[in-house]
Amino acid sequence: MKITLFTLLAIFVIMQFILVEKTNPQYDKSKEFVFPSHIEPMIKSACYDCHSYDTVWPWYSAIAPMSYSISKNVNHGRDALNFSIWEEYDDEKKHKKMKEIFRAVYASMPLDDYIRFHPEADLTKEQRAEIRTWAKEIIDAKEASASK
Ligand code: HEC
Repeated sequence: MKITLFTLLAIFVIMQFILVEKTNPQYDKSKEFVFPSHIEPMIKSACYDCHSYDTVWPWYSAIAPMSYSISKNVNHGRDALNFSIWEEYDDEKKHKKMKEIFRAVYASMPLDDYIRFHPEADLTKEQRAEIRTWAKEIIDAKEASASK
């Protein structure tokens, strides 16, 4: 019993030395997504920790094994969609991302694991609908101009 506990503790201690990548790179503010004022607070509180370079890393993200999953979510989230470098995306990619936002805000985002630790970041049905309406307008405008 003692050995098992000691072993577990030793593993936990060793895990603390396995560092993960936790960065907030500098970025060119002129490349950031410019949201309308009714959308911005929702996206910033519910999405920015994983989809921007302005991540607020919670204290427990310094502790393994939480650090592994948090940094993985942030790095994968940024790869999938990064509002800090939005203007570096070409038109086609922006269009695709807007369609994904339209879908994700009803289907999977923000991630359940995240909401468990940030209940304040959850969005109400009405807020999700608002984001959807906004995304749909941009998608439709783009499709209308493409079919001209
Ligand atoms: C805890 C981190 C986290 C938060 C918060 C979060 N996302 Fe994500 N998001 C991810 C990860 C990780 C991926 C990529 C892997 C995946 O699809 O699960 C992703 C992928 C996406 C994608 C790409 C397509 C897709 O569905 O996979 C979109 C769009 C997206 N998120 C939108 C949002 C929006 C909008 C919000 C806020 C309402 C949000 N996310 C909040 C982590 C997050």
